[in-house]
Parts: sequence; C-alpha cells; structure tokens
Amino acid sequence: MEVRRREGYHGTGPGAITPDGCAVELYSRIPVDDSPDLIARSVPAGATILELGCGVGRMTHPLLERGFTVTAVDESPEMLERVRGARTVLSPIETLDLGEHFDVVLLASFLVHAGSEDVRRGMLRTCLDHLAAGGCVLIQREGSDWHDVVPRERKVGDGVARVLSSEPVGPGVNSVHFEYAFPDAVWTQTFLSRPLSTEQFEQALAEVGLRVDAYLTDDGTWVRAVPATTT
Ligand SMILES: C[S@@+](CC[C@H](N)C(=O)[O-])C[C@H]1O[C@@H](n2cnc3c(N)ncnc32)[C@H](O)[C@@H]1O
Repeated sequence: MEVRRREGYHGTGPGAITPDGCAVELYSRIPVDDSPDLIARSVPAGATILELGCGVGRMTHPLLERGFTVTAVDESPEMLERVRGARTVLSPIETLDLGEHFDVVLLASFLVHAGSEDVRRGMLRTCLDHLAAGGCVLIQREGSDWHDVVPRERKVGDGVARVLSSEPVGPGVNSVHFEYAFPDAVWTQTFLSRPLSTEQFEQALAEVGLRVDAYLTDDGTWVRAVPATTT
C-alpha cells in the first residue's frame, strides 16, 4: 500500500511521521488517559473491538489488558510495528473492507473531524459496515469550545502539549497547529479539523445510517452510536 502525506496535514520532529502528521516517537511517550476505562464501562465484557487509527497501541494495550480482543487498524506501518498482542491491519480507515463484523468499532482521537467530508463519510461507513448485530460504535469527538480556547496547553508526561492556533482555511474547515515540547525533543503537527456542532455531528451519523445511542461523558466528547434501524 502506498502511504502518502494527506493534504493539509504534516508534522516535524524526530522519527517517522504518519500521513496525517503524527510522530510515532511522540505517541510512544504520551501517557494514555482514562479512555480505556470509559470504553470498558460502555461495552460488554470480552467484546471484540475493531480499533480504527490505533497508532502505537496506546489504547490497544490497555484494552487487551481489560480482556477485549482487538483488531488494530492504521495506515502507518511504523505505528503498527509497535502494537503488541493484537492483530494489526495496515489500511486507510475510509476504504477498509475486512468482510468481518465486530461487537464494537472504535473511532477515537477526533478522527471524525476529518478535514475532508468524503473521508469522514468513508470512516463512518467503515464503522457501520463492520458492526455485528447488536454492536455499537464508540466515537471520540472534540469538545464544544475546542477551537475557541486557543492558545492553550496541558502537561503530557514530562512535556507540554500546546495548541498554538486554529485558523479557518476553507468553508467549515480549520487548520490546527500543535506543538509538543519535551526536555529532549520537540514535535509539531498541523492538521485539518472540521468542527461539528452536536446537530452537525448527529447529521453526519445519520448520513451513513447511524444514530446516537448515548452521550457517555458530560462534555459529550464520547458517544455510543448504533445503526439507525436499531430500536
Ligand atoms: C492522533 S493519532 C492517535 C493514535 C491512537 N488512537 C492514540 O490515541 O494513541 C492518529 C492515528 O490515526 C492514524 N490515522 C489517521 N487518519 C487515518 C486514516 N484515514 N486511516 C488510517 N489511519 C489513520 C494515524 O496514522 C495515527 O496513527
């Protein structure tokens, strides 16, 4: 598979950089938050999970430890090389067609905000097409003020993650510039993000035949979705 840089996305810093500008070395050192526990609370124990955009396995590994069976998908071979204990699949999410079905499909890391609406639709269709009967999709979306409270920063391990800017570059699309500064290295990532109000997010789900089953966090950033035909 030929992996090319995605237009509007790039990154700098030591080591391999993915087509969407993520640094493999950086994701190997950012500690995971409480997402694996939230996921574990929100789906049946022992479920089969299709994890889309798994990176180095920051979430994959804690999910395996919690007893889930994970198939981990990413378009970066350098990211997948670092995943342990899960089956890995090298593929863009939006064209994935495994011909298999899973209890849970996980689309985290704000990938639903893809700059291209076609890519977003493709990703959400992939979610729906890989769902087993009775299954659910877990989606992580941006907070409502995500593009407004800029610049901002937070600690990550012994470093700092800074959102330096988020500027409109087209109708409904922003270019976001991040910097990750550690004592021994600095990485940057520039990527496109399409902010989605709750109404726009629900419309995006509806376009592919999904609907919200539950907002799992008070800030609405984690969502469980199911096929729209499910009662
Ligand atoms: C921000 S990183 C997050 C990785 C992981 N979810 C985590 O929390 O550590 C996004 C990952 O998704 C992958 N990715 C982004 N867009 C993708 C796409 N359209 N198809 C496949 N992989 C994609 C990147 O290669 C990268 O590894």
